[in-house]
This record gives sequence, C-alpha cells and structure tokens, in this order.
Amino acid sequence: MPYDDLRSFLNTLEKEGQLLRITDEVLPEPDLAAAANAAGRIGDGAPALWFDRIQGFTDARVVMNVHGSWRNHALALGLPKETSTREQVEEFARRWDAFPVAPERRADAPWQENTLTGDDVDLFRVLPLFRLNDGDGGFYLDKAAVVSRDPEAPDDFGRQNVGTYRLEVVGRDRLGLQPVPMHDIAQHLRKAEERGEDLPVAITLGNDPVVPIVAGMPMGYDQSEYEMAGALRGAPLPLAVAPHTGLDVPWGAEVVIEGVIEAGVRQLEGPFGEFTGHYSGGRRMPVVRIERISYRTDPVFESLYLGMPWTECDYLVGPNTCVPLLKQLRAEFPEVRAVNAMYTHGLLVIISTAKRYGGFAKAVGMRAMTTPHGLGYVTQVILVDEDVDPFDLPQVMWAQSSKVNPREDVVVVPNLSVLGLAPAAEPAGVTSKMIIDATTPVAPDRRGNFGMPTRDLPETAEWTQRLRSLLAER
Ligand SMILES: Cc1cc2nc3c(=O)[nH]c(=O)nc-3n(C[C@H](O)[C@H](O)[C@H](O)COP(=O)(O)O)c2cc1C
Repeated sequence: MPYDDLRSFLNTLEKEGQLLRITDEVLPEPDLAAAANAAGRIGDGAPALWFDRIQGFTDARVVMNVHGSWRNHALALGLPKETSTREQVEEFARRWDAFPVAPERRADAPWQENTLTGDDVDLFRVLPLFRLNDGDGGFYLDKAAVVSRDPEAPDDFGRQNVGTYRLEVVGRDRLGLQPVPMHDIAQHLRKAEERGEDLPVAITLGNDPVVPIVAGMPMGYDQSEYEMAGALRGAPLPLAVAPHTGLDVPWGAEVVIEGVIEAGVRQLEGPFGEFTGHYSGGRRMPVVRIERISYRTDPVFESLYLGMPWTECDYLVGPNTCVPLLKQLRAEFPEVRAVNAMYTHGLLVIISTAKRYGGFAKAVGMRAMTTPHGLGYVTQVILVDEDVDPFDLPQVMWAQSSKVNPREDVVVVPNLSVLGLAPAAEPAGVTSKMIIDATTPVAPDRRGNFGMPTRDLPETAEWTQRLRSLLAER
C-alpha cells in the first residue's frame, strides 16, 4: 500500500515495531545525530528514531533513520519487513519496468496550512536545526528533494528534476547548495546562468518514503523522478503546484521551501561529514535565496545522519543505484545479470555478466563508467561470471582471487571524471578508474587453466535442506 505522506509511513513503522520513540529529553547536539549514527551500528533491523523532547526547543518533532535498515527500506516499498536485500533489489527492478506512471494532481495540500513570506521568512522559526557531525560547518538539510526545471524546456515534465542535494543553512533565508557537476541540477543551473537568470527551486522536506528513493536515483536526464515514484509505489504519486514558483512538488510534504538559486553567486559552504566517510572541506557553492516557506501545522523535521558507512544513506541509495545501472547496462548488453552498487553510492560496483566473446566483460565495465551515475562515481568495477552472485562477497572474492591475472585483467584508465567529494581523486574531480575482470576468459581469449572447475555435488542441495531441518529441530 503506498503512503501519501511521511506521517502515514511513520504510523506503519510504529505498528511494525520499526519506529522507536525516545521519550527522555535529549540535547539537540550531540544526541540527535549520535543516536542516528548508533542506529547504523546496531544492524539491519534498526528502527526509525522519533524525538519530541529536545532541550532548548518548546515545540519540535525530529525523525531520523527513516530508511535506515533493510526492514525499513522494505516497508517503504510496501514489502514485508523480512524481505531479503536481494529480493528487494529484484522487486525494485521489476517495478522499474512499469515506468512511467503519471502523477495524480491533488488539491488542498497539507503544507498550505501555514505560510511565511517576505521579511517573515525564517528557517529557524520552522525547523529545529542541529548539526550532524562534530566537524560540520553548520546546520544541514540533507534529506530534502530539490525540484527545478530546465530553463530551455520549462514545460517538459520529464526534464523537471527532483534530486537530493545537501543544503547548509547560511542565514535565516539562505541555503548553500552543492550541485555535483554530473547531476541534473548542475545542468539546470549552468543553463540559467548562461542566460543570466536565477534558477527557481522548490525544496520539499519530510516526504512520503518513495520520494527520497527517487530523488537520490541516477536516472536519465529527461526521465521524471515523479513518474518513477509512481512505478515504485504501484500508484500515481500525488502532486501539488508550489504557489510561488509553479514547480510540481509532493502533495504530502511537511515543508515546502521556495526561492531561487542566485545566478553567478557563490559562497563558502561546508565542511560536512559525507557519505565517503570523510569531510567535504569548505568550498564556494551556489546559494538559494528563500522567498516563501509553506508548512504543515506541527511540522516533522526529517533528517539523516551521514558519516562513516554504513548509515541510513547506504540503505537509501542501495537498490536505487543498483537498478538504474542494471537497466542502463542491459539496454546495450542484455548479457548483464545483476549489479551490486551498494558500496559508497557506487564508487565501487560489482557486475555479473555472461560473455559474447573474449574481452566482452571489460567493455561492460567501461560502459558502467559512462552511465549517468558512472560519470561521477564508479571508480572501480569488478566483473564476475553470470553464475557468480555479485551480492555474495565471498563468491566475488573467490572469483577475483582465482580468475584475475593482474597484467591482463586489471585495466586502469587515467584522468576520468569523478565527483569532487571522492577522497582519493587528485586533483579533486579527476581520477583514474579501474576495471578488474574476474570473469573466465572465453574464445578467442584462451588464457588460464579454467577447464576443470569443481562444482557442488549433485546431492548438496538436498543435504543443505536436511541439515537446515535437523538444526531447526534441535
Ligand atoms: C542524503 C543524500 C545527500 C546527497 N547530497 C548530494 C549533494 O549534496 N549534491 C549532489 O549533487 N548529489 C547529492 N546526492 C546524490 C544525488 O541525489 C544522486 O546521485 C542523484 O542520483 C542525483 O540525481 P540527478 O542527476 O537527477 O541530480 C545526495 C544523495 C543523498 C541520498
């Protein structure tokens, strides 16, 4: 059953035992972030965390770790919470095939209940802001969906982009924004600045649980995240029109912030503890000038802890990175079986593929680097045979350790693009990338002595069942 807003999803999480209300009073810093950081350390069943007794705030509701476990991720997709990771990725891939599902236009959005405009615009009046890492340069909104249109095609719904880009509060009505150059908002901003125009944006916080999944999903430039949300939900996503900018925004959002990215303006942003497990450093970034804030009565502030993996972010961008890469690769190479891009948002990717002829797997690896996501991430690709499960790391390590002859099977391509946050890049934004071909050579590549692989005995499957039953009966 799809959720139309964050609150209905939180109700389900609570019924499923996947939302923990912290009833003791906590400090905004470091308790909120430390609790969410800890949720990432207690394993795959971690719950979402709800806080409403926060010292210094008389009226605040904060929720963290909403997608921060495989159980919560499954529930966000309307699956049973026990659904295995592999099954979640497979179901995600099946639902992708229903794309596009047109959104539903709905009136009377709950965020229309309260409005701040003009001199009244003040983020501090609406959100209980707090810092996430002890080295962060300020308060961040890091789980928002940022909506913008292509200035050259403002009526093209597909080119309207919905993306998660972290936002630093640099004033009561100003936000620093980090657009990675490979991402769609960077293209929108470049086009606007070339025309000497500000770029209108709507920033929606506290969305139904599928919106953050599509907002962090590397789709094609002209593919609509809202139409993908409909496919993943199995029902049209309810949308409403943001009153100040005319942008399409989720009907169920808690808070809708509207304004413009000011053309040509850059301001110091950061440092911020990032998904790479390293700080970003302070850099000059574009700035959003906020002109209107709309919000539900008693808004819930949804935030996400980011830092050393694994954190909520890794669950959130797990399947939503694997599946686009799988589909984009298969469009040209139907031999590709599965893609595991779960490590550090796909800086490292493992692909299993059948081979057409010798050298084929390396071509698949090169294509992975030129997909929309590959251009800014995918610095290392490990290729394995079609019968190796890329989600089973011992199998992958077996393939790599036994099949790779380093001189021929490790290919390093120098000076390719990567996002500036990749800590190993030098200079920032440029890196060499590596393909490790751990597949079995096929003709005309006749290298190695792979003619006699051992296989599990024919009776092993039956014995596996038998042992499991015997152990269960003990
Ligand atoms: C929590 C979180 C924070 C993110 N922060 C940023 C960011 O600051 N800048 C950015 O360009 N991408 C950021 N991303 C990644 C993009 O949202 C993601 O790669 C998405 O696919 C980009 O889509 P786009 O090409 O449509 O912009 C973040 C993702 C998540 C989940």
